[in-house]
Amino acid sequence: MDAIQVHDKTFVPYISAADIAEKIKEIASQISKDYEGKRPLFIAVLNGSFIFASDLFRRLNIDAEISFIKLASYKGTTSTGNVITAIGLEESLHQRHVILLEDIIDTGKTLHEFLPQLQHQGPASIEVAALLTKPDALKFPVHPKYSGFEIPNKFVVGYGLDYDGLGRNIPGIYQLG
Ligand code: XMP
Ligand code: MG
Repeated sequence: MDAIQVHDKTFVPYISAADIAEKIKEIASQISKDYEGKRPLFIAVLNGSFIFASDLFRRLNIDAEISFIKLASYKGTTSTGNVITAIGLEESLHQRHVILLEDIIDTGKTLHEFLPQLQHQGPASIEVAALLTKPDALKFPVHPKYSGFEIPNKFVVGYGLDYDGLGRNIPGIYQLG
């Protein structure tokens, strides 16, 4: 794989499409074991996780449902900072086994703020599956039960992840050079 250009920046190859596919196969088989008979509800966080979600979901060999949400962050009216709301979540999570799908966990802030809102609906369980985590960037206690690759604290694109809108269609993952 060669270096690529996205907007004004150069990115170098980091994780090949074949390695991603292999990892997703492993995660899907683990989830299929863990959730057999539980009919889990996957909630994929758009936009970044759409390719991860579709590849993982197709690899499951159990009954499962999937729904897609967007997270919007509003400036709070108090000093508590931003308020995160989910757009598009129509299913009731009550007594469901929920698996949240994220492309990448960086500081953990987004999920740390959002997960309690899902808990509020009284699901039977909630776990997180993230394709990528950046352990050195983590500032909030978010620990995905299923995690693909731990990567250094460098910006990445490809496989659904974008730099300013571009790069999502690149099959592998590339790192800022
Ligand atoms: P936090 O810090 O809340 O951030 O865990 C998670 C969100 O930040 C975005 N993000 C990235 N997007 N390449 C990207 O394309 C990256 O290296 C990267 N790091 C963080 C992403 O939207 C994720 O949902
Ligand atoms: Mg994202």
